[in-house]
Amino acid sequence: MSKKASFLPLNLSLASFLLVLLLLLCVVVVHGAHEKKILSVHNNIWSPTKSNEASTSCFSHNLVKERESSTTLGMKHRELCSGKTIDWGKKLRRALTLDNIRVQSLQLRIKAMSSTTTESISETQIPLTSGVKLETLNYVVTVELGGKNMTLIVDTGSDLTWVQCQPCKSCYNQQGPLYDPSVSSSYKTVFCNSSTCQDLVRATGNSGLCGGINGLEKTTCDYVVSYGDGSYTRGDLGSESIKLGDMKVENFVFGCGRSNKGLFGGASGLMGLGRSAVSLVTQTMKTFNGVFSYCLPSLEDGASGSLSFGDDSSVYKNSTSVSYTPLVQNPQLHSFYILNLTGVSIGGVELASSSYGRGIIIDSGTVITRLPPSIYKSVKTEFLKQFTGFPSAPGYSILDTCFNLTSYENVSIPIIKMIFQGNAELEVDVTGVFYYVNPDASLVCLALASLSYENEVGIIGNYQQKNQRVIYDTKQEKLGIAGENCSI
Ligand SMILES: *[C@@H]1O[C@H](CO)[C@@H](O)[C@H](O)[C@H]1NC(C)=O
Ligand SMILES: *[C@@H]1O[C@H](CO)[C@@H](O)[C@H](O)[C@H]1NC(C)=O
Ligand SMILES: *[C@@H]1O[C@H](CO)[C@@H](O)[C@H](O)[C@H]1NC(C)=O
Ligand SMILES: *[C@@H]1O[C@H](CO)[C@@H](O)[C@H](O)[C@H]1NC(C)=O
Ligand SMILES: *[C@@H]1O[C@H](CO)[C@@H](O)[C@H](O)[C@H]1NC(C)=O
Ligand SMILES: *[C@@H]1O[C@H](CO)[C@@H](O)[C@H](O)[C@H]1NC(C)=O
Repeated sequence: MSKKASFLPLNLSLASFLLVLLLLLCVVVVHGAHEKKILSVHNNIWSPTKSNEASTSCFSHNLVKERESSTTLGMKHRELCSGKTIDWGKKLRRALTLDNIRVQSLQLRIKAMSSTTTESISETQIPLTSGVKLETLNYVVTVELGGKNMTLIVDTGSDLTWVQCQPCKSCYNQQGPLYDPSVSSSYKTVFCNSSTCQDLVRATGNSGLCGGINGLEKTTCDYVVSYGDGSYTRGDLGSESIKLGDMKVENFVFGCGRSNKGLFGGASGLMGLGRSAVSLVTQTMKTFNGVFSYCLPSLEDGASGSLSFGDDSSVYKNSTSVSYTPLVQNPQLHSFYILNLTGVSIGGVELASSSYGRGIIIDSGTVITRLPPSIYKSVKTEFLKQFTGFPSAPGYSILDTCFNLTSYENVSIPIIKMIFQGNAELEVDVTGVFYYVNPDASLVCLALASLSYENEVGIIGNYQQKNQRVIYDTKQEKLGIAGENCSI
């Protein structure tokens, strides 16, 4: 008895020793095994051979069956509008340069907006968008305006929807015919004395001017949206029936652009999804409840995706559940959708920072996500710690964490997550982690960049929004995010 009993403590301590050892091992293993995903290195560039002939047209099909109060449009990458063979290397490198210029002008605009204490007219005189922005606005949808198919560039950062209009003083080349108000029975002129005309102040930064065009009486509401680089659209406001998929909205107010210049190449015009009264979202509030969402495809997938209007979540093909975060209210930056970034994790490792809790803009027009320098620095450090053993390469433009992966087939990359107020989570898709500066993968870089200064406002770019369902609910002032394969 006593002999047996004397073994007991030893057994116990051995057991607990082994247990502790096991636990320690577990911790080490769990710690060492960071959350990762496999990237197929050479499968990440779109080529025409991967896609069928039809997809090289600018026009997109609206395939999805509509519900009572929702509609879904097919969305395409604008590269497909050009109809030309694309030199991807050149294109990809140019996009980075333009993206940088765009973010710099955006920061200047934010600074100007924030420094005005009163909401004066001068504040709204700042150009809404830069021409550069328009070139980086990559996605187009097809809608019916007055019964005619029009391809529009999608922009969450501006408000007025416009198309090139007959008779046209000066128009750039577009696919398909120009919109002609004279042959549409549903077209109406918006008069200068209307409240709609006055709403233009907020939307475009230029008050609605009373003008007369082509011998009309001086009653039209003229608009100008001017862009930093000399691009602009100029014309008069009209209203028309617009059909988004199967859903028709009457008396939709839009800009009839008689003189348009800039980098809108191929498209008929632009769809404004910002927050002011003339925005498509606000104008269709009764029909769609102020809700729209998109799923941005990665170009390499053959460039299909979707833009949905309405709050029927059954049209989403999300693969994870939707998590919501409040839209931050900032009266000075009223044209932006702003979120509250509360954390970033790399491969499951949460990064500490004192720069969380400030607003970060979510934008469909910026390509590369910009983070405050302190956050970017810890992202870079942790990423390099986990993504080891690959030949490094020199930085390019705004990107400074680069590799030569040309001789690899598959690489395992740490999962990047951005966390927002309310624990909403954006898990960056595997196609949104590396930017290919050279299409042969001899220069690929972490597709995140640092702002110049700690006090600048961060931006979530469209590269990190690929293969996500992003839901803008302007009525409940919240934004939802879920994983979704956009190319289905
Ligand atoms: C617009 O395009 C769609 C899809 O290509 C087509 O089915 C429809 O008939 C077109 N509508 C008009 C008015 O041309
Ligand atoms: C605005 O002007 C139009 C045309 O001059 C006129 O018919 C209309 O009554 C005016 N409306 C208002 C609200 O003054
Ligand atoms: C899609 O999102 C909804 C709403 O959060 C959720 O109920 C559903 O389970 C999600 N689908 C999948 C496959 O996770
Ligand atoms: C962001 O969220 C944090 C944590 O919930 C909160 O303390 C902070 O006030 C929020 N910031 C803004 C700008 O709403
Ligand atoms: C790379 O991944 C693809 C797809 O996941 C797989 O078919 C292929 O066998 C992998 N190649 C290697 C060398 O592991
Ligand atoms: C990338 O690596 C490959 C093979 O490892 C090498 O042949 C090539 O010269 C490298 N390219 C650059 C631009 O460094």
